Amino acid sequence: MAAEANGFRLHRPGVGDGRPVRAESAEPEILDDDAVLDLSTDIAGGDVEDTLRRLDAELVGLANVKRRVREIAALLLIDRARQRFGLSSSRPTMHMSFTGGPGTGKTTVALRMAEMLHALGYIRKPKVHTVTRDDLVGQFIGHTAPKTKEALAKAAGGVLFIDEAYYLFRPENERDYGQEVIEILLQEMESERASLVVIFAGYPDRMERFFSANPGLSSRVAHHLEFTDYTHAELMGIAELMVAGENFRFDEPAHSAFAEYLALRMTRPRFSNARSVRNALDRCRLRQAKRLVELHTPLTKTDLITLTDRDVYGSSVFSDSSVFTDSSETREGPSARAPA
Ligand SMILES: Nc1ncnc2c1ncn2[C@@H]1O[C@H](COP(=O)(O)OP(=O)(O)O)[C@@H](O)[C@H]1O
Ligand SMILES: [Mg+2]
Repeated sequence: MAAEANGFRLHRPGVGDGRPVRAESAEPEILDDDAVLDLSTDIAGGDVEDTLRRLDAELVGLANVKRRVREIAALLLIDRARQRFGLSSSRPTMHMSFTGGPGTGKTTVALRMAEMLHALGYIRKPKVHTVTRDDLVGQFIGHTAPKTKEALAKAAGGVLFIDEAYYLFRPENERDYGQEVIEILLQEMESERASLVVIFAGYPDRMERFFSANPGLSSRVAHHLEFTDYTHAELMGIAELMVAGENFRFDEPAHSAFAEYLALRMTRPRFSNARSVRNALDRCRLRQAKRLVELHTPLTKTDLITLTDRDVYGSSVFSDSSVFTDSSETREGPSARAPA
């Protein structure tokens, strides 16, 4: 890990073919005070640029999240450069909170963050271990600590992503085992050796209450990333990315129909941003399949690719909104993947 932590390419005149070589030694030589360090020679820089480029290209919107990710990358790149000059400082704290509604990209960005932190040598593996209260809290006395430690062991060297973290804290129940989890987490988050990044995720308002009730945790969280609900235009952009990503396309009428669909769906219960878009597209795909099968004619590639407005308008969101009874459109779990 030490070698990874400072993988600058060293230029050694007269060695090999003159191309930069990777510094493999665990103790990279300390640069002279008057040396000049080109950040672009940091091997991690390329991987980080790659992750940032993919973040930009594959995720619509999220401008402030993308900005914060770049800032974190810069902080760690400079930290690596400082180490090359032998400048010691404390390891930057990387525990984070991701706040935002459902389907705003928190889990997706956590995966990218893990890749980036790994490329920069901050963590040992580019993995995210996602847990919720039930994975950490035991049912009986003495069960919580082993459960939490098991989760920490699984996450070790990577990212522990605690979804809906505020469920760990139940002020109305003094004996709640969640408090035990928080104490173990605090210790782990303090430990310099742990090579573990904890990300607390959930709704903004509840998360704020959670942190104000747990100032110890809050003070150890260095980066707060806010995921705002997507606009209609952003959701359309997300839909287009998803459709293209699955080798489908909307024809012109389908495109307008889907814009109409979204405008309606956004006002309905349990709207979950990009996740609702994904679920809606799954259902369009089911309707397309049914429509094509029922044609009983040979099909072209274009037929197979194209989603039409019929595939969109089949949604129950278009039926009378005042007596909205079909809950399949507003149920966003796996069970929602049934034709509406
Ligand atoms: N900005 C975005 N651009 C494209 N797809 C997105 C975006 N945000 C979320 N998604 C997609 O929406 C789905 C839900 O996102 P996810 O990260 O699970 O949200 P959350 O964890 O906030 O509930 C995933 O399939 C993800 O790929
Ligand atoms: Mg999630």
